[in-house]
Amino acid sequence: MSTATPVIRIVDSPEALASEAAKDFVRLARESALAEGEFSVALAGGSTPRRLYELLASESFSAGVAWSQIHFFWGDERHVPPNHADSNYRMAFESLLAKVPVTQQQIHRIEGENPDAWQAARAYEERMVQHFGLVEGAFPRFNLMLLGLGSDAHTASLFPGTDVLTEQRRIVAAPWVEKLRAFRITLTPPAFSAAENVIFLVSGQDKTEAVKAVLRGEFQPGRFPAQLIRPRDGSLTWLIDRAAARHLDA
Ligand code: 6PG
Repeated sequence: MSTATPVIRIVDSPEALASEAAKDFVRLARESALAEGEFSVALAGGSTPRRLYELLASESFSAGVAWSQIHFFWGDERHVPPNHADSNYRMAFESLLAKVPVTQQQIHRIEGENPDAWQAARAYEERMVQHFGLVEGAFPRFNLMLLGLGSDAHTASLFPGTDVLTEQRRIVAAPWVEKLRAFRITLTPPAFSAAENVIFLVSGQDKTEAVKAVLRGEFQPGRFPAQLIRPRDGSLTWLIDRAAARHLDA
């Protein structure tokens, strides 16, 4: 087992970013379905992946996907109900899941409506234990984990300076994020790093400093949490558009 070296792919535009990611998704879905009869993916929240989800639902990509073999999870969720404008589930549902032939049994959302965020985290953890048949202390091995990057170098809901950054045992946690004055529900660093393939999608000029700090800076995960995502036995890809990659080689 070894830690993956990141593969960095720089593309011209946000549209090219979505299209490259859609091609990767389709290829990985096909490979996993052939090898395992199932493709498990943890979707990313935020706004960047919306175009990817729309493309996947479009005729040109959708026709090449065995939708019935996919199980959808999320890497993180906001502490809001599923119909809330901020819900990561809602964004993925509207842009993708409502438009493709998948059943409720294939959609494993985080219950952000639970008033107790820790209870939602434990319920989600239990759902993964059941789905993946995990033994005590094991982490799920997602075929694909999609992630975004914040301009403060957070990813999923792993924010700078929060306790969850040092979590080693749990699969899911519910960190309090002081700057948002809110709980989030998120997979933990070892859970992300257990994935078979991790793909970061990063777009826009406001991400240039974060991209540079995470990929070229000293290892300081307390400040740059995305540095913690290091698949131990899997691939790590950074898909970055030109605007976000501007300072990468400076
Ligand atoms: C969330 C995310 C978060 C997101 C980044 C980037 O729930 O907000 O999972 O980590 O991916 O903040 O967000 P944008 O794509 O909106 O820039």
